[in-house]
Parts: sequence; structure tokens; C-alpha cells
Amino acid sequence: MPNVFASNHPLVAHKLTRLRDKDTDLKKFRELVREMAALLAYEATADLATVSRQVQTPLAPITGADLKERIGLVPILRAGLGMVEGVWELMPTSEVWHIGLYRDEETLKPVQYYNKLPVEPTVSVCLILDPMLATGGSATATADVLKRWGVKKIKFVGLIGAPEGIAVMQRAHPDIPIHLAAIDDHLNEKGYIVPGLGDAGDRQFGTG
Ligand code: URA
Repeated sequence: MPNVFASNHPLVAHKLTRLRDKDTDLKKFRELVREMAALLAYEATADLATVSRQVQTPLAPITGADLKERIGLVPILRAGLGMVEGVWELMPTSEVWHIGLYRDEETLKPVQYYNKLPVEPTVSVCLILDPMLATGGSATATADVLKRWGVKKIKFVGLIGAPEGIAVMQRAHPDIPIHLAAIDDHLNEKGYIVPGLGDAGDRQFGTG
């Protein structure tokens, strides 16, 4: 699949296995989501632009690099919230923007209920964060909002993707790379990814 990157890092595979385990408790689950988000964001940001900067080490001057672009983190509520901290630790000057969407029970289409984005974009790169790329509805709608806002470069960072959701996202936004820890088998009739890890929101927030 073009523009879809499933990590083959052993650390990611190790942590994902613990995350999938139904016996992993709430605290550990949250910790794993945070750590995996950082590992995947590290891979997803390998092509960010930099500008040169001179610094003086205790021994000599050297030309180093600073990130050039302003970065926005956009968690898909609610499960994406648990990914923010991990990525923020890597890029503490990132802005975090929230866009609230829910799925209309009848039309099954995403409806926006929260959006406080200012008129002019304040970032040029956005990472959409959602552990589960299931139907692709929320990811696609979030990308629509960010493109309308004027963001030039968008990436999706998730933990597990279903082939169905990946296809929906790729059809709507072929320019947006999708970074995942794994691509699973299928979506079941209730919209859960199989084998997946269950409900990523409930398992993080203890609401299951
Ligand atoms: N959302 C989840 O939390 N889990 C799934 O399997 C699919 C969507």
C-alpha cells in the first residue's frame, strides 16, 4: 500500500503485543500508548525540514540543526488523547489542537461538535493522532478540517489500522502518509478491528 508505513521496529512489536493482551491493566495500557506514540512519531517525523544553527560546544563551534516548521498535534477524541503526551515529550514546542467529531447514529457520518481553530493556520505540519484507524471516518473528516484550515503537510500516526479504514483514508487523502505499528485483519460488524486490542478509549480511561 503506497504511503502506508507499518513499523518493523522490535520495540514497537514488543510493546504492541503487551498492549493487545487483554490482561494488561489500565496503568500499563496508558503507559504503552504513550511510549508507542513517541516511537511511531519518531519514525513519522524523519523527513521534517531543519535549518542550520551554530552552537558552541565546550570544545568547539559546530553547525547543528533546528526544526524549521511549526508542528501541530491533533488527537482524535477521545482515544487519541493518550498519544499526545508521548509525542509532546519529543516535540515540546508543538501546539495541540482539538477537533471534536462524533458519528451520527443514522447517517454514520462524522459530525463536528468542537473546533476552535483560529482563522489563519498557526502550524504548517500536523500529526493526526488516533490509536485505531478503524472505519477511517474520523481520520478523513479531521484531515478535511485541517486542509480547509490551510495546513500544508499532514501525517496520520496510529497504532493499529484495519485495511478498510486505510483504504477509506487513502482514497480521500492519498497525499497523507499513514504511520502504524500494525495492519490487522479486518473490521467486525461492530466496527472493531480484529484481532486489534479492543476499545482503545475504554482501555485507557477505565470506562469499559
Ligand atoms: N476503536 C477502538 O477503540 N477499537 C477498535 O477496534 C476500533 C475502533
